Amino acid sequence: TSSPPVYTLEEVTKHRSLDNGVWVTYKGDVYDITEFVSMHPGGDKILLAAGGALEPYWALYAVHKEEHVLEILSEYKIGVL
Ligand code: HEM
Repeated sequence: TSSPPVYTLEEVTKHRSLDNGVWVTYKGDVYDITEFVSMHPGGDKILLAAGGALEPYWALYAVHKEEHVLEILSEYKIGVL
């Protein structure tokens, strides 16, 4: 069994634009959501979390704490912190 790639927070913070890629973290996992940004039902707000943690934003927008949203997120996992 192979373990998932490990990324540092520093590396994640470098990915906060559509040009460099948009990465976010959630519960210790790292996601490359670049391809999802234009499909987000909440529009450009998603970019507020670019290069950092989803938790503070999802605490405000509780619509995300649903199975179908976590399912979408899981498709974009690239590794762990
Ligand atoms: C709505 C996914 C990040 C703000 C939604 C919905 C999905 C989604 C699937 C529709 C939910 C529903 O109606 O059942 C995601 C994913 C994210 C993400 C996968 C991260 C990878 C964010 C962030 C913010 C945000 C960081 C705010 C800073 C919103 C808002 C809505 C929304 C305001 C409601 C839009 C509306 O119904 O008018 N998001 N979201 N989202 N999202 Fe996100």
